Amino acid sequence: MKIGIVVFSHTGNTLRAAGALESELLERGHDPEILRLEVPADYKPGEAAVELEGIPDISGCDGLVFASPVHAFSLSAVMREYLGRAEIPPGTRKAALITQHLPFAWLGGNRALRQLEAACGGSLNGGAIVNWSRSNRERQIEEAAAKIAGLF
Ligand SMILES: Cc1cc2nc3c(=O)[nH]c(=O)nc-3n(C[C@H](O)[C@H](O)[C@H](O)COP(=O)(O)O)c2cc1C
Repeated sequence: MKIGIVVFSHTGNTLRAAGALESELLERGHDPEILRLEVPADYKPGEAAVELEGIPDISGCDGLVFASPVHAFSLSAVMREYLGRAEIPPGTRKAALITQHLPFAWLGGNRALRQLEAACGGSLNGGAIVNWSRSNRERQIEEAAAKIAGLF
């Protein structure tokens, strides 16, 4: 299955987790591609309004994963902006990969997942949260990759 992993990552954490997911999908025989959301050079994380530098081409993707950090206990404004503009063909399988610094999902991760699902019209097939400051972070990344890959 061709799977687009649409990633916003400001400091590299989400991109790293997305890379682990890409490897896992490849191992399972899928055809994944990381599609980065780019922002202007003067973008400051947490800004409510953001202008994307282009929208990645998701045509031909049978599945999509939206990968984003938590900003201020919410889904990043960059991913919100993207999802507001993306035209996702009906029937596309969709999943979410969220990273956050704080150790508990209730400190933003759960809310970000809910916001992402709402932005997808309630049709998210599943998702995972990685708590970056936890000592078992590497295992969380592996488990998130396996969980999300299993949705496709
Ligand atoms: C402006 C800003 C707000 C953040 N707010 C939260 C938050 O509410 N909860 C949390 O757990 N982490 C928060 N973080 C931490 C990021 O979610 C975390 O470091 C994430 O893994 C960064 O991903 P990235 O390296 O892909 O940008 C915040 C980071 C920034 C820059």
